[in-house]
Amino acid sequence: SDTNRELIGSLIVDVPDFPKPGVVFKDITPLLASPEGFQTAVDELVASAPEGIDVVVGMEARGFIFAAPVALALGAGFVPVRKPGKLPGETISHSFELEYGSETLTMHRNAITPGARVLVVDDVLATGGTIGATAELLKAMGAELVHVSVVMELSFLHGRERLVEMGIDKCTALVTV
Ligand code: PRP
Ligand code: MG
Repeated sequence: SDTNRELIGSLIVDVPDFPKPGVVFKDITPLLASPEGFQTAVDELVASAPEGIDVVVGMEARGFIFAAPVALALGAGFVPVRKPGKLPGETISHSFELEYGSETLTMHRNAITPGARVLVVDDVLATGGTIGATAELLKAMGAELVHVSVVMELSFLHGRERLVEMGIDKCTALVTV
């Protein structure tokens, strides 16, 4: 509901010049520290999910916080996307460009059955690099990415357009700034 989303937005705090000058960081820790706020965010993410989700995928680190409770609420499994060097089994990787340098994300190669219906959950959609790389990993695995849900979208970074260019047009953001 609008009331819920206003509550969520009010608990995400702007921190100017973090982690570097000129960047306004969106701090979700006040939302997490509020039992009502955190529960409301999880409930709204759960409500955004289509029927028949088999697996919820969350991205290290902040995505884990929201994706795991959403998976439990949906009766779905949880599969982590991790930064390199953390998963013990055979992995697949996808690299993408950041403003400075590049980032790689990994997933266990056999983590998801081909054809499984996947919901991707993260805290923030910014440039779309993280979700885009996750979508590439899911594609390589033959999984079906049916929906993306995030707590906050930073629309001025145009991540949604980037996802649409990749054919991902089903994306819910609880709060858009
Ligand atoms: C942040 C955030 C999202 C991502 C969004 O993660 O949690 O995952 O950036 O940005 P993008 O749309 O431009 O990819 P970050 O990599 O900073 O690390 P963390 O989750 O481990 O804190
Ligand atoms: Mg993250």
